Amino acid sequence: MSIAIDWHLARALLEWQVELGVTDALGLEPVNRFDRVEARAHAVSAPMAAPAAAPGAMLPDGPDPVAEARRIAGAARTLSDLAEALAGFPHCDLRRGAQTCVFADGNPQARVMIVGEGPGADEDRIGRPFVGKAGQLLDLMFRAIGLSRTSPDPAASLYITNTVPWRPPGNREPSAEELAMLHPFLMRHIELADPDLLVVIGNVACDALLGRRGITRLRGTWTEAAGRPALPMLHPAYLLRTPAAKREAWADLLSLQARLKELQ
Ligand code: URA
Repeated sequence: MSIAIDWHLARALLEWQVELGVTDALGLEPVNRFDRVEARAHAVSAPMAAPAAAPGAMLPDGPDPVAEARRIAGAARTLSDLAEALAGFPHCDLRRGAQTCVFADGNPQARVMIVGEGPGADEDRIGRPFVGKAGQLLDLMFRAIGLSRTSPDPAASLYITNTVPWRPPGNREPSAEELAMLHPFLMRHIELADPDLLVVIGNVACDALLGRRGITRLRGTWTEAAGRPALPMLHPAYLLRTPAAKREAWADLLSLQARLKELQ
């Protein structure tokens, strides 16, 4: 049976789905993501994109996920060990709705490491952090002070990761529980990459690394995280919505540039 749908009805139906929380148009055929995980992981070409493995259920009397995360992350000796360990970590439910485990991008030798919030739809699809609109702005911002994720020179490059490696459903914020079990991976990630400076982007990263929120107050003031200088900055997604705040972001970039010179 075919139903004639005019433009207005089609639009109303789409709006209704958006209100229900649908965030992605996936195609005409239903997709079982649990079946697709392996194939999807192999399709990702980025070297630092780790596969999202089959989800594991946590038993109520199972191991403490935070202690497990500490043990597994602590055992990783290299960044690729860590990427693999994270991709195989079964206790975080975020992985269930994600297509890829987005580990990092850029030059792991970079003096500057950026920590963002978590993958969005584009990052989840492509398997690299900050590749959507906000990521494009992030690249432009840092290029303005001579830093780029594609540079092979540690002094001119960036290494980029996120607080959580799986896209939270509907782009919601990660819960306190999720942040707690992914924290040991983030700390080990920073330890292994060993950058001179951290740039902490947005509230979720500030929460995870500084134990504080309120990015509009925190931004621009140097602090310390993971044993090294850290600069909280506004999230580029916020800057896209609030262009007037680009002035503050520019001041922070200049502060970062000055600090890098000081530490040379
Ligand atoms: N926002 C983030 O914080 N990280 C990404 O990777 C993409 C958007």
